[in-house]
Amino acid sequence: RTTAVVLAGGTGQRVGLALPKQFVKVAGRSVLEHTLGIFEEAPGVDEVLLMMTPGYVGRAEEIVAKKGFTKIVRVLEGGATRNETTERAIGFLTARTPEGQDQKVLFHDAVRPLLSQRIVADCIAALDTHDAVDVAIPTADTIIVTRTHGADGEYITDIPDRSRLRRGQTPQAFSLSTIRRAYEIASSDPAFRATDDCSVVLNYLPDVPIHVVRGEAHNMKVTEPVDIHIADKLFQLSSHTVPPQSGEDGYRRLLAGKSLVVFGG
Ligand code: CTP
Repeated sequence: RTTAVVLAGGTGQRVGLALPKQFVKVAGRSVLEHTLGIFEEAPGVDEVLLMMTPGYVGRAEEIVAKKGFTKIVRVLEGGATRNETTERAIGFLTARTPEGQDQKVLFHDAVRPLLSQRIVADCIAALDTHDAVDVAIPTADTIIVTRTHGADGEYITDIPDRSRLRRGQTPQAFSLSTIRRAYEIASSDPAFRATDDCSVVLNYLPDVPIHVVRGEAHNMKVTEPVDIHIADKLFQLSSHTVPPQSGEDGYRRLLAGKSLVVFGG
């Protein structure tokens, strides 16, 4: 069995609206609906577990019922941090899984509504031969490492070789037994701190190789206010040429065609 866990437990402080950013409308539908729609249409995904911001479970259940999503197995409250939300999802899935059985699980940020079916399929396929899978793209920007010297400001301490740097996206995919074991070990570490799930495996199960699937620039995370406009534009671009959900392929076809309007050109 393959479960997609949609992580929608955050409040979207950086976007800064009264409503969590997953409820913001982009290209006619909420960000959350776009994301749920991707897994609804993914042939390799059997069910979806939706983790929601405390206080918004009812609202999410309404959307699920009204929009006719059929794969949602449950809407649960998330935790105080993204990792706590992941842990709650692992707890739910574990409680249902008979002893000795395993399954595939994909954790995806609800606020990445342009995820392509190609990435979903590649993650699920990679789990046939790996227990941990990440999605990443090369970085166009130079990444610098800095240190802050109090009131004196920020200074560079390192500029790592860009050819080896990647920007991590989601889904992050695992066999349930692996991600559960990683979190079990992490929970006994008082210094535990992470913002994603692959780093939990990397730090606490260092012998487990983490396979990297090629991500897409399209698979952006709505983080800052400007990202809402960028996501809206990306949806518009792909919907003019091809059916929605085809992500990067649709974008490539658009760029190859004559209909491209060059920004500012
Ligand atoms: N997330 C979650 N549970 C939390 C915090 C975050 O499930 N306690 C989810 C968010 O809903 C989002 C994803 O993790 O889909 C990525 O997190 P981020 O972009 O940081 O979302 P927020 O925490 O909502 O944003 P901010 O940090 O600006 O408040």
